[in-house]
Amino acid sequence: MRIRSMGERDLPAVMAIERASFAAPWSEAQFRDEIARDDRVWLAAEDETGAVVGFGGIWVASDGAHLMDLAVSPNRRGCGTGRALLWALAEAAAQRGAERVTLEVAQSNRDALGLYLSSGFDVAGVRRGYYAETGDDALVLWSRPIRSHLAAIAAARERREMVLAIETSCDETAAAVMRGGCELLSSVVASQVDFHARFGGVVPEIASRKHTEAIVGVVDEALEQAGVGFEDLHAVAVTQGPGLVGTLVVGLAYAKGLAFARNLPLVGVNHLEGHLYAARLHDPALEPPFVALVVSGGHTMLVHVPEWGRHRVLGRTLDDAAGEAFDKVAKLLGLGYPGGPAISRLAAEGDPDAIPFPRAMLRSGDLDVSLSGLKTAVLQYVQRERAAGRELHLPNIAASFQAAVVDVQVAKTVRAATKHGVRSVVMAGGVAANAALREALRAALAEHDVRLVVPPMALCTDNAAMIAAVAHDEIVRGRFLGLSVDADPTMHLRGADESRHVRI
Ligand code: KG4
Ligand code: ZN
Repeated sequence: MRIRSMGERDLPAVMAIERASFAAPWSEAQFRDEIARDDRVWLAAEDETGAVVGFGGIWVASDGAHLMDLAVSPNRRGCGTGRALLWALAEAAAQRGAERVTLEVAQSNRDALGLYLSSGFDVAGVRRGYYAETGDDALVLWSRPIRSHLAAIAAARERREMVLAIETSCDETAAAVMRGGCELLSSVVASQVDFHARFGGVVPEIASRKHTEAIVGVVDEALEQAGVGFEDLHAVAVTQGPGLVGTLVVGLAYAKGLAFARNLPLVGVNHLEGHLYAARLHDPALEPPFVALVVSGGHTMLVHVPEWGRHRVLGRTLDDAAGEAFDKVAKLLGLGYPGGPAISRLAAEGDPDAIPFPRAMLRSGDLDVSLSGLKTAVLQYVQRERAAGRELHLPNIAASFQAAVVDVQVAKTVRAATKHGVRSVVMAGGVAANAALREALRAALAEHDVRLVVPPMALCTDNAAMIAAVAHDEIVRGRFLGLSVDADPTMHLRGADESRHVRI
C-alpha cells in the first residue's frame, strides 16, 4: 500500500468508494472544488496494482485541522488503510502548522468511530440531527496533540522510542521503561501479596489503596533505574484491562495525568496480550502463527495468534481459572495464599498417582476445560479422610491434584497445536511458573515437533515490561487512547472484529 496525493484522475475510483461508504455521499463537483483549494490536503491510498483503495482530505486553518472525509473500499477495510491515511493526513497538517485535528462522524458509523477512538481522539460533543439526509447525530471528535503522536510513531518505526509502561490490573504495582520495544531499561514490581495473604486472596479495596500509595514511588524508581526523565519519553503505556476495575483505574488515572501534563501519547494495552508478548521478550525469534496457553489467577484460555495483534480464542475454562484452582485447593489444605507456589513445592515430594482425581472434559472433543469439579473432588476427599480419622498426606494430595490439572492442560494444548498446525506454543501467566506443567507440556509437544516457549519467572507473573513490549507494536500501528477513556475490566483480546469493543 502506498499513500500519495489525490488528483482529478482519481475521481472515478474515489466516487465509487465514497458511494459505498456513506448514506449521503459527496458529489463529484464537491470533490473537484475541494481538491482545487490550497488550504486542503487530499491523499489517496493505492494497492500493489495501483488501484485506489482509500482516500481522505483535511482542511488546515491556522493551528487547527479539520478532517473533511476519509473512506476505505469495503473489501479493504480492517487492514490498517484507514489508520495509515489518517496519520498521513495528520502529518501533512502538522507540517502546515496544525496542532490538533477535529472531525465529525456519524454516531452510527461504528467502524469509523472505532478507528478514531483508537487513534487518540476524544468525543467533544454531539450535533443532533447533523446529517440532514439520514437524521443521524454527529459526534464531534478532537485529537490529542498530533506532533507528539507523530514523533512517537516515527521513533517506534526506527525502534528508538522510549516508553514508560504501567501495570495495576491486580495486586502488583509495576512500571517499566523500554526503548524500541525490546531494550528493557528497568522493570520495577511492588507486590502487595503480603497484605492480602491474611485474607486468603486479593481484597480489591485494599489492592486499590495500595496501588494509590505505591504508584508514584514505583514510577520514580523505574525512571531512576533507567536513567531517564519524563522529558525523554515518547509515550506512556498502561494496562486498560482486563482486571479489577478499582485497581485498573489507579494506573489509568496516573497515566492519563502524565499524558496530559507532558503532552505524551497514551497507549492502552490488553493485559492478556501483555502475557503473550512476555514470550517475545524472552525469545525475540518467536513469530506467529502460534498457539498460546494463558494460565493465570484470572484466566485460562487457549488462543490462536495468526499474527501479532490478532487473536482467536479456541477454548477457555467454563468455571475456575487454573491459578484460582491452585489457590482454592491450597486454601482448603491450609497452605496459605498464593497457593500455586505452595502446592508445587509440596507436590515435588508427593506421588502424583496416589489419588485418582477426575480429569474433567479430557475427552470432550473441544478445547474448553472445567476445573471446579476437581476442586470439589479434593474437598470431598479431604472430608472423607478426616471423617475416617485418617491423617492427610499433603504431598500426595498436592501432587495428585497438580497431575490432574497438568494432564488436562497438556492434552488440550497439544490438541490445539496439532489441529492448527503450529510449530510453536507459548505458555504465559502466573501458572506457567509451575515446573511440572512446563516439563509435561514441553515433553508432550516435542513428540509432535512443536517447541514450547515459556518466559522466565519474572516475566510470567505480572509486570510492566510485557506491557511496554505490546505498546511498541501499538505505536507503530498508530493506535492510541484519548484521555476520556475508561478502564475495561472485561476487555477482550482483539480479534478480527474490532468494532465489537468500541466504547464511547
Ligand atoms: O498472572 P498472575 O501473576 O496474576 C494474574 O493475572 O492472575 O497469576 C497468579 C496466579 C496465582 O493464582 C498463583 O497461585 C499462580 O498464578 N501461580 C502458580 C505458581 N506460581 C504462581 N500456580 C501453580 N504453580 C506455580 N508454581
Ligand atoms: Zn496476569
